[in-house]
Amino acid sequence: MTYKVLNNITLKNVNNGVLSNLSTELLVIPVNKKVMASSEYKELDKKSNGYISRSIKDSISPTNQNHLISSLNGVKAKKILLINDLNEKDDIYLWLNKYKYVAKIANSIGCKNLAILDGQNYPKGKDRFWFLETISRSIESGAYIFSTTKNKTAKTEKIGKDIISSQASLKNVSIVTSKLSASDTKKAKNAIARGFSVGEGVNTAKHLGDLPANHATPKLIDKIVKNTVKNYSGLKVKTLNEKDLARLKMGSYLSVSKGSDEPPRMIIIEYNGGKKNEKPVALVGKGITFDTGGISLKPSSGMDEMKWDMCGAGTVFGVMCSLARIKADVNVIGIMACAENMPSARATKPGDVVTSMSGQTIEILNTDAEGRLVLADALTYVGRYKPSYVIDMATLTGAVVIALGSHASGVMANDQFLADRIIESGEETGDRAWQLPLWNEYKSCTKTNFADLANIGGGREAGTIHAAAFLSKFAEEYKWAHMDIAASAWSSSPKGGTGRPVPLICDLILNKKLK
Ligand code: BES
Ligand code: MN
Ligand code: ZN
Repeated sequence: MTYKVLNNITLKNVNNGVLSNLSTELLVIPVNKKVMASSEYKELDKKSNGYISRSIKDSISPTNQNHLISSLNGVKAKKILLINDLNEKDDIYLWLNKYKYVAKIANSIGCKNLAILDGQNYPKGKDRFWFLETISRSIESGAYIFSTTKNKTAKTEKIGKDIISSQASLKNVSIVTSKLSASDTKKAKNAIARGFSVGEGVNTAKHLGDLPANHATPKLIDKIVKNTVKNYSGLKVKTLNEKDLARLKMGSYLSVSKGSDEPPRMIIIEYNGGKKNEKPVALVGKGITFDTGGISLKPSSGMDEMKWDMCGAGTVFGVMCSLARIKADVNVIGIMACAENMPSARATKPGDVVTSMSGQTIEILNTDAEGRLVLADALTYVGRYKPSYVIDMATLTGAVVIALGSHASGVMANDQFLADRIIESGEETGDRAWQLPLWNEYKSCTKTNFADLANIGGGREAGTIHAAAFLSKFAEEYKWAHMDIAASAWSSSPKGGTGRPVPLICDLILNKKLK
C-alpha cells in the first residue's frame, strides 16, 4: 500500500494562454490585483461578458472570502471558484488553510480535477517556488478523507450539519502559471513534486494514526510498512520482534508490552540516498498503538484518542516515504518503536524495577508514563548507527497540551543548533515548534531510592520537561532533540490525525539544515 490521495499535481505553464478554453471541472482563481490585471484573467472575464468581475464585486468581501460560480457560456471550465487572496503580511497558517479549503470544496462538490491559478502573490519573504511547494502539499493533504473502515457503498454521510463525502473525489490538480522561463519551469516542477511528496507523507502519517487500534497493532503496522516499502526502491526495513528485543536487553521497552496480548515490534527503516561516508540523521518515533495507561489505568472518557499514541512512529514512516519518493540525497534512519500498553495479570505494576538496554535501572512508578520507556531503549539502540543528529517524536505528555496548545510542537534538546534549526523549519512550513528549557535543574527529579531513575518525577510541575529530562539520560552520546507532539499530531475536534510534524522534518532534512 502507498497512501495516495491525488494521482498527480502538474504544472501548466501558459504563454499568453486562453483561460476560457481550459477544460477542467473547477477553475480556482485567487482574487487579487495582480491576477485581475493579467491578460489571462481579462480574456476569461471578457468571455463571460464581465460576469466574473461583477461576481467579485458583488460577492467577495472581508466576511465572504469565497464564491462558487456554475457553468458560464463561453467558458469551458464547469465551475469557477473565486477565493479572496491573502495579503503578503498574512501568517503562513492562513495560506495553508486557504489551500486546504480549496481541496475540501472540490471534494464536497464531487470534482475529479481542478486547475488553480498561481496568484503571483506570496507571503512576505517567500517566493513563487515556496508557494508552489506549499500549495501542492496543502491540496494533497487537504484532499485526504479517512475511509478505510467505512462502508464503501455509501458515497456521502451526514456528520452534524455537514454532508461529508466518504471518499475523496479529487484526483488531478494542475497549477496554472504564465510566461515562466525554461529554468523557472524546471524549478517550479521540482517544487510541485516536492510539495506533493511531502503531502503524501503527511497523509501516510494521518492514515496510520486514524486507523483504529485493532487495525493497527504493532504486527499490522509492521505488515503495512513492509508492503509499502516494496513501492520504493530506496527503503530497507528490518524488524525486531519480542525475542530480538529481549536479546538486546531492552527491559524498559518490554515492560510496556508485557501486559498486552499483542507482541511489540521495533521497525527500523533505512534510506541511504546520500554519500556513503555521510553519517545518518536518525528519527525515532513513539509507536504506542493503544495507550490504556496499563495498571495506572486512564479514565475512560476520551480514551479512544489513545489510538493516536503512535503518531511519532507515523511521522517517521511518513517522512521516510517522502524522502524515498523524492529520491533525496540524504542518509536517514527511521525507528518506529511500536507496542501496546494494556493492563493484565502479566502487566508491569507500579514500583516494578526494570533494567534498560543502557544498563540503567528504572523504577516504573506510573505505567501510564510508558512512551519514555520504549523511547529509552530505542534511543540507546539508535546510537549504533553513529547518527549525526537524533530527533525523537512522541505524543508524550498531556502537559504539553496545556503548555502550548495545538499550534506548536514542544522542542527540548541537548544541542541548541539542532533546536534552532527545528524551530526554523517550523516557521518555514507553518508546522511550528517552540522550545522549552532542558536545564540540569529539571534532571534531578528522576531520583529514587530503588533504582537509578524513576519514570516520573516533579509532580504536577513541568510534566513535559520532566519527561524530556528522563529521555536525556539515554541520549548523552549524540546531539539530540525531543519533540513532544501530543497536541499537534491529531485534532480532537474534528477528530483526525494532522500528519504533523512531517512537513517540518522534511524541510529540515531536504534543505540540509543540519550541517
Ligand atoms: N500518551 C500519553 C500522553 C497524552 C495524554 C497525549 C493526553 C495526549 C493526550 C502518555 O503516555 C501519558 O499518559 N502521559 C502521562 C504522563 C504522566 C503519567 C507522568 C500524562 O501526560 O498524563
Ligand atoms: Mn501513557
Ligand atoms: Zn502514551
